[in-house]
This record gives sequence, structure tokens and C-alpha cells, in this order.
Amino acid sequence: MSYNRRNFIKTSSLGAIAASSLSINCQNNLSIPSEGVYMGDFADKPIKKIRAAFIGLNRGGSHLRNFATIENTEVVALSDLYEENVKRELERLYQYNSNTNNVKTYWGDKNKWKVMLKEVRPDVVFISTNWNNHAPMAIQSMIDGAHAFVEVPMAVTLEEMWDIVNTSEKTQKHCMMMENVNYGRAELMYLNMCRQNVIGELLHGEAAYIHELRWQMMQEDKGTGSWRTLHYRGENGNVYPTHGLGPIAQYMNLCRKDDNFKSLVSYSSPALGRKLYAEKNFPKDHKWNNMEFKNGDLNTSIIKTEMGRTVLVQWDETSPRPYTRLNLIQGTKGTLAGYPTRVALEGGFEDLSIDHHSWIQGDDLEKLYEKYDHPLYKRLNSKTKKSGHGGMDGIMMYRIVECLHKGLPLDQNVYEGCFWSSVTPLSGKSVREDGKPQTFPDFTRGKWKKTNPLDIVL
Ligand SMILES: NC(=O)c1ccc[n+]([C@@H]2O[C@H](COP(=O)([O-])OP(=O)(O)OC[C@H]3O[C@@H](n4cnc5c(N)ncnc54)[C@H](O)[C@@H]3O)[C@@H](O)[C@H]2O)c1
Repeated sequence: MSYNRRNFIKTSSLGAIAASSLSINCQNNLSIPSEGVYMGDFADKPIKKIRAAFIGLNRGGSHLRNFATIENTEVVALSDLYEENVKRELERLYQYNSNTNNVKTYWGDKNKWKVMLKEVRPDVVFISTNWNNHAPMAIQSMIDGAHAFVEVPMAVTLEEMWDIVNTSEKTQKHCMMMENVNYGRAELMYLNMCRQNVIGELLHGEAAYIHELRWQMMQEDKGTGSWRTLHYRGENGNVYPTHGLGPIAQYMNLCRKDDNFKSLVSYSSPALGRKLYAEKNFPKDHKWNNMEFKNGDLNTSIIKTEMGRTVLVQWDETSPRPYTRLNLIQGTKGTLAGYPTRVALEGGFEDLSIDHHSWIQGDDLEKLYEKYDHPLYKRLNSKTKKSGHGGMDGIMMYRIVECLHKGLPLDQNVYEGCFWSSVTPLSGKSVREDGKPQTFPDFTRGKWKKTNPLDIVL
């Protein structure tokens, strides 16, 4: 969308304040003081009945179902570019036994969501649109008095991320990037095991989003492929880093007291697969055949943390290979890994392994789950297992609603969303500079040292 972020902020009620933050155009703006309140452990007052609006109703339809089926919630508005999407979700909402009489609906124009925010004044807004819309929609939602919940990634540029941080601090509204993978069963169990020191001091992590998505190019004018394909044009590095990285960051307490993101180097492979796919599947004069795909098919970044730990982050949505997020965390006493889920522990584990030279995996994992399954998973799995992505979507929504109802800090704060997403612009810059190290901006302005690590929520 040709939406102009700067224009809307200038014309908004908090425009003068927000506009002053827009001049920030450097990576490390520690020297520019915050005009608001640090949001690391922020908790708002409890909201008895949460009134929610939704923008973007494809992925957003899943959030809508998961939200609407929790008690003491109310859907107050739906917005999408297309009438058919709004009508479809309204019909579904009715089937979830929700009262649809008071749901206001907006479609047909790329700016209708702004009207919605003003007319409906929701407590929270769920944003599930194309990536370029995330920042302007989240910022305006906060300015208009709502907590913003944004699909991954939080935003696309460092400037947008600073604008989000500054607006959240100024308005004291949550802005959570909804990283659902942090609520997967294996990820929750590994977090629990890390907290219990089962693998000792953490040294290294491996994260990835390797998911062959060339078929999305068939969505030529509408749908995910119509906008996502455009992100493969420039040398943009890892354009989707957060699914793999979010869990590793929370195992390591990055951005929370112990440690933080420090710097990153990145390289990309040649960019070949998209061109081949376009040549094979579309006519010669098709737009995909007249586009140069410069972003390498496989991007590999290495993050160094303040404590000197390392995190490998890979991304590939093009090559023919099975899905993986790697999900590996290595410590001084053992290693936990994903795809397939497997565990190696020094000294072995019960009668399943005698040492760390073999993996515990397959059916043998049952005993590990018995001992280390995260209490949150145990509490919510039966309620949420049909919620999407193996249940992680439902646990995430349940926690969002629970924290808002009880006035608790959210499980993922605004800074974490920005750090995890900032791998995109930083890896792109490193790739363009032939692997030159890039320093992470400190979105917390040093305050991560005071932010509590995420609890093992019961
Ligand atoms: N966490 C996950 O597991 C997961 C899974 C899928 C998608 N996603 C994320 O969800 C987001 C949406 O992805 P998608 O696949 O649903 O994309 P999509 O293009 O299929 O859907 C986006 C929707 O947003 C609407 N939209 C766009 N601009 C709008 C505007 N100005 N006003 C109102 N509506 C607007 C579109 O009409 C469309 O229906 C992306 O950020 C993606 O990365 C996350």
C-alpha cells in the first residue's frame, strides 16, 4: 500500500510527539532520551471484558477464532480490503456463538482501518496484514488508545522499529509481536529445561525458517504471494527471522537481564530458485519473469550476544528441502534440538541414554515430556490443541487474553519483537557490505539489564 507513515503521524492527535521521534535515523540512538516510560515489564490495569478489532483477515481469521472463543472477550470490528473476507469471518464469528450484532465492518479502501480505530475505540487491535503495513497500523493503533498485537515480523526497517518503541513508551500501550512459535510444545519444554539448568550454561543456538513457499507466487494479485514475492527483489538478507529466533532468544534471556543481542554478520547464497520457478510456471511476459530476484535463496547470519554466545539464523523459502526451524540450543551439559525433536545430555537420561553421544528421540521422548513439559502446555493443551500450528496459536492467544484480563506484563515485550525483527534490516545491510558486522541498536536504551527474564508461567 502506498501509505505514508509520516503523514498520518503528523495529522494524528499525538502527532507532534510521535513526529519528533521520526527524525531518529541512526542505528544506536542511546543518546536520544526516551520521551516516555520503559515498557520492559509494563503491565496495564486489568481489562474486564476485552474489546478487540481485527485488521487483515486471512491469518487474522485464525486469531479471530482463538480470541472470540475465550470468555470475557468481545469482537467489536473487522477490517479487510475485501468485502468477501469480512463477510466470511463475520459468518464464522456467528458460528462461534459470538454476538455479531454490534460488530462494525470495514472494507473496500486501504484507509478504512483508520476510520475503524476512531469510530470503535477498541482496547486492542490484532494486525495480520502484509509486512509493510505492520508499523503504520501498530503505531496508529497505540496513538488511538489501543494495545497493538502485530503478526510477525514487527516491522521492516529499523526506523519503523524505533517509531514503534517510542510510540509504545509515549502512549504506554503494549505493542507485542505475536511470535506463536514460542508457545510450541518443544519450545516451551526447552525453555523449561533451560530454566532448570538441565543443559548447564548456554553457549550457542541455531534458528531457522526454512520453508519452501515458491507456490505462493501463484497468488499473483491477491493473497500472501502477491506482496511477499516482492521482498525477494532486493538484497534483503533474512526477511523472516523471528519464528526460529524468538524461542532461542527467550532460552538465552536475550534482552532480559542476563544477555542481549550485540552484533551480526550475514551472507546470502546466489539467488536462483525464484527465477527458475517463474520461467517454468509463468508466461514470458508475466510480471514475475520481468522482475529481478536479487535476494539469495538461502541466507545465513551469525549473531553474537553481549556475553559472547552465538546464534546461527538461517532463512530459505525457495529451495526444495523439508521444513525446519532448527530449534537447537547447546549448553555446557547437553544439547536440545529440533527437526526432529531430540535431546542429548551429559551423563545420559534415566534408562534412555547413557551419555551425550546419542540422541533421545522418537517414542523415547515421552519420558522427557513427562518430566519437563512446560506447565503452560499441560494447563492449556486440551483447550487449544485444535487452534492452529499444533496448538501454539491458541496458547499464545490464551496468554494474551489472560495477561490483559489480569493486568500482567505480556510474555513478549515491544523490545523483544523489535530485536528479533531487526535481523532483517541488519542482515540485509551485512549482505550488501559483503559480510561486514552490524551492531544491533539497543531499543531498550540499556534498560534490558533491569528487565526480568520470562517466568515459567504456571
Ligand atoms: N505466525 C504465523 O504462523 C503466521 C502464519 C501466516 C502468516 N503470518 C503473518 O501474518 C501476516 C498476514 O499474512 P497472510 O498470509 O494472512 O497475508 P494475506 O495477504 O493473505 O492477508 C492479509 C490480509 O490483510 C488485508 N489487508 C492488507 N492491507 C489492508 C488494509 N490497508 N486495510 C485492511 N486490510 C488490509 C488483505 O486484504 C488480506 O486479506 C503476515 O505478517 C505473515 O507474515 C504468520
